[in-house]
Amino acid sequence: MTELRAVIIGCGKSTRTAGAKEHGISHCHVQGYQATEGCRVTACADIVEDYAASYAALYGLPRYYLDYREMIAAEKPDIVSVCTWPHLHAEMVIHCAKAGVRAIHCEKPMAPTFGEARRMKETCDELGVQLTFNHQRRFEPQYRMVRELANRGVVGKVLRIEAACGDMFDWGTHWFDMVNFYNNDVPAEWVIGQIDCRTENKVFGVPIENQGIASFRYANGVYGFFVSGYGATIWAEHRILGTDGIIEAHMPVVKVRGKGDTEMRTVTFPEQKNIGAWSAITFGIWDLVHGLRTGREPELSARKALAGTQLIFGAYESSRRRARVEFPLEIDDNPLHSMMASGEIGPKRSEHANVKK
Ligand SMILES: NC(=O)c1ccc[n+]([C@@H]2O[C@H](COP(=O)([O-])OP(=O)(O)OC[C@H]3O[C@@H](n4cnc5c(N)ncnc54)[C@H](O)[C@@H]3O)[C@@H](O)[C@H]2O)c1
Repeated sequence: MTELRAVIIGCGKSTRTAGAKEHGISHCHVQGYQATEGCRVTACADIVEDYAASYAALYGLPRYYLDYREMIAAEKPDIVSVCTWPHLHAEMVIHCAKAGVRAIHCEKPMAPTFGEARRMKETCDELGVQLTFNHQRRFEPQYRMVRELANRGVVGKVLRIEAACGDMFDWGTHWFDMVNFYNNDVPAEWVIGQIDCRTENKVFGVPIENQGIASFRYANGVYGFFVSGYGATIWAEHRILGTDGIIEAHMPVVKVRGKGDTEMRTVTFPEQKNIGAWSAITFGIWDLVHGLRTGREPELSARKALAGTQLIFGAYESSRRRARVEFPLEIDDNPLHSMMASGEIGPKRSEHANVKK
């Protein structure tokens, strides 16, 4: 087995470090490569020397850099993990792809605009670079069980898949991705949505909605439903409604009312173990390394990530157009940002002054 050399861009502060404010998600990436046979992490890069140096020391990496471009040129890695904030993803992914790396594993959300998200995928496709995004929830056993139950027909024919969380862009990128996952990655045909942006709300530097709603339909006739922000609840993380019952994910518990059940029951399964979102990152890395070695599409492929991202920006675009949006989505910007810039939505609107959440 040939050895694959990986490098990490954006170290962050370990969440185990006192005073760490962000997630330092790169700590999960390096552990993922180090747990994968045939991989070696040779270096990391961060603009904050303290972070880069302590990260290299903590994981026994031979070198660290303050400029990621210098690292790519010097290390000539096979795989790069991009663990910076979303506004840097496109620039870094495209630079690494053009510099000749073989695979890039980038953090979610893909990018602040749909154009950047699409260009990352297109550039990597053209250059034959394997591109993946860290929607690692696909590897958590409980969520896999939800899909398994649906595919086994426990609730009959699936009619609608629902999800709720704090926002469409940052957390929502995981949940749109999971709705797609539960529907076996069948493409969506359209989305109709609305967003409200009455108070300033940012995540990883990107302005997002305070509240949102989206309804969408897939090519197999299944519907999706998503609510975000203030008051967003479906009394579960995810729910699958079928002709004969309901499956609900209340992590780490899965509940079902299927054929023959009179009430909701908790599902137990032999592999039931709450491995957590962080450990699932190792599964994603193992899978993308396997994909690189075999040519198989990885579970976390850019194709699937773009399908979820299309739902985010499609819902925003529907709000802008005041109409249903058909896919494929052909916009380049972030409609929420454009509408904020023009004053169409946002805290500056007079009717939003002093309104309650
Ligand atoms: N998959 C998940 O479940 C999950 C969880 C948390 C965060 N994330 C995502 O991971 C990304 C990073 O989040 P985080 O909380 O780890 O951030 P962080 O702030 O902890 O780490 C980012 C690091 O990037 C460095 N950086 C900034 N500019 C750089 C540059 N030009 N070159 C090299 N390094 C640079 C910063 O100095 C910082 O150390 C975000 O997109 C976030 O949404 C994903």
